[in-house]
Amino acid sequence: APVTVVSHPLVQHKLTLMRDKARSTKGFRQLLNEIGTLLAYEVTRDLPLEPIEVETPLVTMQGVQIAGKKLVLAPILRAGIGFLDGMLSLVPSARVAHVGLYRDPDSLQAVEYYFKAPSDLADRTVLVLDPMLATANSAIAAVDRLKERGARDLRIVCLIAAPEGLAKFRGAHPDVPVWTAAIDSHLDEHGYIIPGLGDAGDRMYG
Ligand code: PRP
Repeated sequence: APVTVVSHPLVQHKLTLMRDKARSTKGFRQLLNEIGTLLAYEVTRDLPLEPIEVETPLVTMQGVQIAGKKLVLAPILRAGIGFLDGMLSLVPSARVAHVGLYRDPDSLQAVEYYFKAPSDLADRTVLVLDPMLATANSAIAAVDRLKERGARDLRIVCLIAAPEGLAKFRGAHPDVPVWTAAIDSHLDEHGYIIPGLGDAGDRMYG
């Protein structure tokens, strides 16, 4: 499955503002939501439509609607929540699955502490949200878990991905496409994305 880098000028402009270490918590959070809206637009670009009749004030015509059940947004806590409101502003009827994972600082393994998802994941497109794809351990664990609960049609939406993480993710889940605003240089010895923007969860929530 492909990796799509969203190169839209608004996304790239806002991402650079987010990387600035002087950006306030308030500014960081607002920008992440704004980019979330723009990424939601891109990641839904190819959703299939089906015909539906609509009565205008004058006549009946053939319109369209997005086929199938509503989307599921699956933010990985905490940082993934930063995309949620921005995305819901474009897909307000989406369902939400909460996936609580933290990255153990020594092993860099993802540790689950919360999971709550709609029961009918098998029938829905699931967008997994996490601003940072570093080692990809978190994204892989989230997709493992969502698949275990029935999800079959998944997409990853992130802000910054490391090449190492992208390669690992594609090895683990070759059927799951990735949308990202940037692919950065590499991971440092602590598993941080370089140049990156630091710890997204901490910058948003402290
Ligand atoms: C960070 C980040 C991602 C994850 C990425 O979360 O928000 O979820 O690490 O790293 P990975 O690709 O190597 O797994 P963290 O564990 O710091 O939790 P937080 O979002 O609650 O701060």
